[in-house]
Amino acid sequence: MTKELVVEKDTQKIVDNSSFALKVENLSKIYDSAAGRVVALDKVSFAIKKGEFVSVVGPSGSGKSTVLNMIGALDRPTSGKIYIDGIDIFSLNDSEIATMRNSRIGFIFQSFNLINRTTVQKNVKLPGLIAGMSNAEANSRSLKILEALGIADKKNQKPVNLSGGQQQRVAIARSLINNPTIILADEPTGNLDTKTGDDVFDMLKMLSHKFKRTIVMVTHNPELAESTDRSILLRDGRIEKDAIN
Ligand SMILES: Nc1ncnc2c1ncn2[C@@H]1O[C@H](COP(=O)(O)OP(=O)(O)O)[C@@H](O)[C@H]1O
Ligand SMILES: [Mg+2]
Repeated sequence: MTKELVVEKDTQKIVDNSSFALKVENLSKIYDSAAGRVVALDKVSFAIKKGEFVSVVGPSGSGKSTVLNMIGALDRPTSGKIYIDGIDIFSLNDSEIATMRNSRIGFIFQSFNLINRTTVQKNVKLPGLIAGMSNAEANSRSLKILEALGIADKKNQKPVNLSGGQQQRVAIARSLINNPTIILADEPTGNLDTKTGDDVFDMLKMLSHKFKRTIVMVTHNPELAESTDRSILLRDGRIEKDAIN
């Protein structure tokens, strides 16, 4: 509690907490392995406003997944800070980080990462139950989201029996269950054909514009990137360009 108050006080010196969902400051990540030392991110800084839909682009190996994984607190940076809702996330302990990740961040991956031994609706409900939602609330909320995304009729199916596009919709539904501050999507259309990928992208765009979600999406598709509000171009772990589209 004390820590959070202190952190928020610090943050107010740097950002306007009312308008930024995310602030990344001097973020560096160095991987040291037997293969050598890799500077995956080199003092990267940017801030993202609430409701902004930002694409992260750049060649393979430029640090896109690394920055997304840091924002999602899946991994810790070598140095630098990330504020989500004004909270310095790496000042939290592991259990606080897990709670923060589950409640404030929605993840969408290229490979869907759904649990195949359980149903679509249970997949969507699960982060809600983990966050302490009652089963009744998780049931009704997940159903509403599945309806909004046009896949409520698949609620009792196993994800493995769905098409790629449908599985990605389930993953999007799951990302929304806890009403997150930020949705992070790492090449969400990467495993889909063009038409299905466009449909998934349109859904993210709808979430951004109609429901004012803050979205950070890594993509290799220049057309999709141009259709977002803003694109950040990474090269060799540095921001080469950051521009409104
Ligand atoms: N766990 C890891 N161990 C060592 N090097 C890594 C690891 N993860 C990523 N890298 C390296 O960091 C750099 C950035 O990787 P990544 O963020 O995955 O790039 P992108 O998503 O843009 O393709 C690459 O050189 C990659 O090989
Ligand atoms: Mg990647």
